[in-house]
Parts: sequence; C-alpha cells; structure tokens
Amino acid sequence: MSFVEYEDLIKDGDTAIVFLGHGSMFPVRVQAGGQTQTKYGVIRHSADLIGKRFGAKVTCSKGGWVYVLHPTPELWTVNLPHRTQILYSTDISLITMMLELKPGSVVCESGTGSGSLSHALLRTIAPTGHLYTVEFHQQRAEKAMEEFRAHKVDHLVTVRNQDVCKNGFGVTHAADAVFLDIPSPWEAVGHANAALRAEGGRLCSFSPCIEQVQRTCRALAEHGFTEVHTLEILLQAYNVRTVNLPVPDLGKGAAADAADAPSDAAADSGPPPPGVAQFKSGVPLREMVGHTGYLTFATKN
Ligand SMILES: C[S@@+](CC[C@H](N)C(=O)[O-])C[C@H]1O[C@@H](n2cnc3c(N)ncnc32)[C@H](O)[C@@H]1O
Repeated sequence: MSFVEYEDLIKDGDTAIVFLGHGSMFPVRVQAGGQTQTKYGVIRHSADLIGKRFGAKVTCSKGGWVYVLHPTPELWTVNLPHRTQILYSTDISLITMMLELKPGSVVCESGTGSGSLSHALLRTIAPTGHLYTVEFHQQRAEKAMEEFRAHKVDHLVTVRNQDVCKNGFGVTHAADAVFLDIPSPWEAVGHANAALRAEGGRLCSFSPCIEQVQRTCRALAEHGFTEVHTLEILLQAYNVRTVNLPVPDLGKGAAADAADAPSDAAADSGPPPPGVAQFKSGVPLREMVGHTGYLTFATKN
C-alpha cells in the first residue's frame, strides 16, 4: 500500500482505515501478530487483515463487522493524529485547483503541521513531482517524515526543519507553486518569490484573520505578484430525508383532521398513513463548518 498507488491486498506494515459506521473510523498500522480493539470486538491482524482485500468486510471477535479501507489523503485528513490545526478537503480542493497542481509539479509548503495538506499535494504531484515542506518545530518535522516513510511517499518529499521566514524553503527558482499556512505569511513572501521559477508560478496563503490577509496582500504587491485575490470556500452538505406532510382537507372535517395530522418529522420508513403525502428531500445539515480561513492566491509572472 502507498498513498499514491492503489494495491489490492493488505500487507504487514500497511496503514488501513477501519470503518465502523457513519462518521466512525480510525487508522490502524497493520502488524503481523498485532491486535486492534473495536466496539465489535478484537481484529487480529494476521488472521483478519493480512492477505485480505482492501474494502473487505471483516468480522470482529464479538460477531460485529467493520470495513477495512485503502487509505487516501481524504480519509487520512479525517483520521490523522492532530499535532496542529489542519486543513480539510474543502479548502484543499480549491488550493489544488487554483495552484494548478498536476503530476510533475514542484511545490513548496510551510508549515508542514500535521501533514494533512502534504498528503493531498503528494497524491496530486506523483509520480514525478516533488514537495519541499518546511516546519520549524523539530518533533513535528520528524513525525511528518516518519509518516511519509510509513505511507511510502518519502521519495516525493523533502522535509526541512527551519524557519521559513528566516531561511526560506531551501529551493531557488525551482517551484511551480508555493503554499503558506503560518501565522506571519507576509514575512515569507520574499522567500516564496525566490523559490518560484524565474518564469513564474502560483502562490497561495491560508490565514484565519483578515488582518493577516491585509499584510500578506501588501507584501505580495511589494514583491511584484499579480492577480492577487482572496477567496473563502464554504461547504453545504445535505442529508436525504423522507418527509410526511398532511394533505389539507379543505372541505368538511378539515379542523378535526388538522388536529391529528402527522408532523414533517415523521418516521423515515413505512408507507404513509391515509391523508399524508410522502416525499424524499435533500435537507441541509443543522450545523455546518463556518469560517476556516481566507485563501489568498497570487501569480508571479
Ligand atoms: C496550522 S499548522 C499547518 C497545518 C498543515 N497545513 C496541515 O494541513 O496539516 C502551522 C505549522 O506551521 C509551523 N510554523 C509556523 N511558523 C513557521 C515558520 N516561520 N517556519 C516554519 N514553520 C512554521 C507551525 O509549527 C505549525 O506546525
């Protein structure tokens, strides 16, 4: 298994995602002789995982079952151990498109953080691109490298443990794109300029606060970047629900019927009772993720 190439069978040393039900998953490092506890009982790695197909339904010791999924950057993002605040797939999708990333792209990133964005970048630029990622917190840099090795993407990435605002990316005129997710991105804009190819490239900076955006935009203009614009992307998800509504009786007996009419929160199963219209509807979730951050994009010409 690797995060950039699909394999059919689960092997010793792989990372797999154990899927227990809607919104309930966790990652597991498969180890011969290892065991993983779930609410449905134990999964024994040698007997239940190694040699099985990714996607298989695995029965646990108490008789319940789980699915074992091949890892992807999207699944990793919602299952990874957090060492920092991370970027989620909605922001990542826009970043990938607006930075014009593709197989073979050379990308500079800082900070590496928990590696959520890094995994997505690596999947997009494989098999011939390269990611230079800079993280000034030593343990985070080491942990990220360990994960890249375990996920068999370390040949595509160089992790540097340094301050990007002081020492830059360690790359000169080689990058197609630069991404910044640090508290003071305006201090790294000059280094981003130096890292991007002489013939040009794209930049993105993620910041939660508008004051950070203002300072970054000023720095981008001072360094000659063009097409500077800031976007925010918000995700609206929908549940599919069966809705029951009373059919109004506009004639005799309307008042009596209205008193015991079922509500639209009625059960999701079974045929509707008489006098009730039933239909399926897409219903927005009651809660949605609000602001994550502003994404400022710019072009070096
Ligand atoms: C919010 S996290 C990045 C999360 C990452 N985008 C992800 O998706 O997992 C910010 C990281 O930048 C690092 N950082 C902050 N300032 C830095 C600097 N000047 N140079 C290098 N790394 C820095 C922090 O240590 C932290 O790990």
